[in-house]
Amino acid sequence: MAKTDIPGIPSSEITPEHVYINRRQFMLGLGGLAAAAALAACAAPSSPAPAVGSVATLAPTAGKSTDELGDRLTTYEDVTTYNNYYEFGTDKSDPARQAKNFRTAPWTVQVGGLVNKPATFGVEDLIRLFPPEERIYRLRCVEAWSMVIPWQGFQLNKLLAAVEPTGAAKYVRFETLNDPEQMPGQRNDWYEWPYVEGLRLDEALHDLTLLATGVYGKPALPQNGAPLRLVVPWKYGFKSIKSIVKIDLVAEQPSSLWMVAAPDEYGFYANVNPDVNHPRWSQASERRIGETARRRTLPFNGYAEQVAGLYAGMDLAKFY
Ligand code: MTE
Repeated sequence: MAKTDIPGIPSSEITPEHVYINRRQFMLGLGGLAAAAALAACAAPSSPAPAVGSVATLAPTAGKSTDELGDRLTTYEDVTTYNNYYEFGTDKSDPARQAKNFRTAPWTVQVGGLVNKPATFGVEDLIRLFPPEERIYRLRCVEAWSMVIPWQGFQLNKLLAAVEPTGAAKYVRFETLNDPEQMPGQRNDWYEWPYVEGLRLDEALHDLTLLATGVYGKPALPQNGAPLRLVVPWKYGFKSIKSIVKIDLVAEQPSSLWMVAAPDEYGFYANVNPDVNHPRWSQASERRIGETARRRTLPFNGYAEQVAGLYAGMDLAKFY
């Protein structure tokens, strides 16, 4: 399908976030950030600092060496050599070696399903329409390790606004490239390829939900999901699907690769939750890559203030 520009897209959709975030909210956010840094500096390393303020605290942070809780960034070396990417092997060191020559350009993403304006975008079009900003997010893997990663990316809700979901759209389904020639892991039938993930529409529209194009101010490397990967920081890392080629708005809850592979172990929601253990291990604590002591896992990975409202009234042990 041909690449498509989006005529008539309002400029608010393409203005970088730091320009249009309202100034008062931005100032409040900066206050929260300073308070969080002070609290974190006083706290023992293993005790969780309180989650802070609004999404504005996660606005552009270029040059920062910590997240908003005061936790240090994971090194670029670790972020790019300790990876989960089953299309390129099951060992943490496999993706960096095996994805080295993965072709990330040209690359298009087809966005369709229950939308008024389906379109296929080149990644370079997306970057032009939605200029990436930096977001420092914690990534908590379901395997109980974690990192703090400075991503470059844009809010998924900007792309979704451009294609105009219809009233029938309730979920978003994401699909990774299917190319067994380039992705050796896809040549085995342990999993139902391609990798698929999904979000409820309100989760997908949340300001924290990012489509990432870069890491540490550089274009993302293949092992991190280049050229385009999802980042949903309050959910276990497996929701953050890599190398996306297809995004569909759908009416029914999609089944992910992990739900199909092990339905008793991996649910649709996958919100980080220290109170609900994985059937084979505890989720109460985690190992931050680069640290020795374990630290307590925070509800919603420390983003409860921003996202807990999405799940009001839901039994989080049932909807795991
Ligand atoms: N996306 C695809 N296509 N294939 C994968 O195997 N692994 C997931 C997620 N996205 C995975 C994927 C898991 S389990 C995690 S924890 C994160 O990617 C890891 O992201 P990182 O390697 O960039 O830290």
